[in-house]
Amino acid sequence: MSGKATVISPANIAFIKYWGAVDFDRAIPTNPSISMTLDACHSRCTAEHVDGSGDDEVHLAQPDGSLTDAPESFVRGVRNHLDRIREHTGRSGRFRIATANSFPMGAGIASSASGFSALAIAATRALGLEPDEDELSELARMSGSGSASRSVSGGYLEWPAEGSGDRCHAKVIASADHWDLKDVVVLADSSEKKVSSREGHRRAASSPHFARRRELLPARLDATRRAIAERDFDLLAPVLEEEAIELHLIAMSSRPAIFYWKPPTLAILETVRELREAGCPAAATMDAGPNVHVICPAESEEQVFDAVSRVPGIAGVIRDGVGRGPRFSDEHLA
Ligand code: DP6
Repeated sequence: MSGKATVISPANIAFIKYWGAVDFDRAIPTNPSISMTLDACHSRCTAEHVDGSGDDEVHLAQPDGSLTDAPESFVRGVRNHLDRIREHTGRSGRFRIATANSFPMGAGIASSASGFSALAIAATRALGLEPDEDELSELARMSGSGSASRSVSGGYLEWPAEGSGDRCHAKVIASADHWDLKDVVVLADSSEKKVSSREGHRRAASSPHFARRRELLPARLDATRRAIAERDFDLLAPVLEEEAIELHLIAMSSRPAIFYWKPPTLAILETVRELREAGCPAAATMDAGPNVHVICPAESEEQVFDAVSRVPGIAGVIRDGVGRGPRFSDEHLA
């Protein structure tokens, strides 16, 4: 028996960051994180399940519809994740996978979050299964990309919201319709980053600032939950920037140190500050990369886009916003 499914699954941007883990392989985080699911930045994944033995096939789908071989490390990551899915579901057989991103891989937009959530949803559907969102979140997390656990639903999510060990999963705390926030993603550099997030999690506790961050987090988590519940951008903005700067402060002071910033990063941060001083609500956040996500209410998106587009040296701007989460598609990649 064979089954095929295609899923479009979005990236997400963390307001409160996942940085540091108590279990690196199973991606059990040190602290809860809160994110917004995106829309335009997504991965599309087609999974076909076929009976029989042999290696899983993993391809990258190109814009012209052709399939190319994926890099070895990428193939290894996908096959490992498919092994976990086989183990979890008790099913055998192999998969043919084709995948494509709407944005550059490894450049600070969570490509593994959208990629692994798409893979978990497509592979289980290809097996004829329909796990609920909690189980999909756990399955996505088991890829080792913890942020993937927050890409299985739309709106605003907290992870872990409940459950410990392997039951550690994300939950929606507000729907996409609740608050129409935008994310203007400014690419400071679109090349692949040199130090993975996974390595960053490992090094985090070696920073002298890591312990202090853990003391500050409960108040920030509360403020973020309240800001989302009350759609209070003035409450959210300072928390967003504190979180982004602290993540990089910890990375830069880890042993060995990790520097994700590039020269345009600072110029973009300065532009966001100027916008705010001029009365335009906007706040910057960043993941483990040089790019800056400018979060703003829908009314200020145009002004933000105009201002950041003029920053010298940037590699591009992607206009995104809160999204409704993964969806199935009939347009298969293979
Ligand atoms: C800085 O281990 O989930 O984005 O596998 O690269 O997606 P990837 O990273 P993961 O760590 C994410 C770290 C972060 C903050 C966050 O998304 O919470």
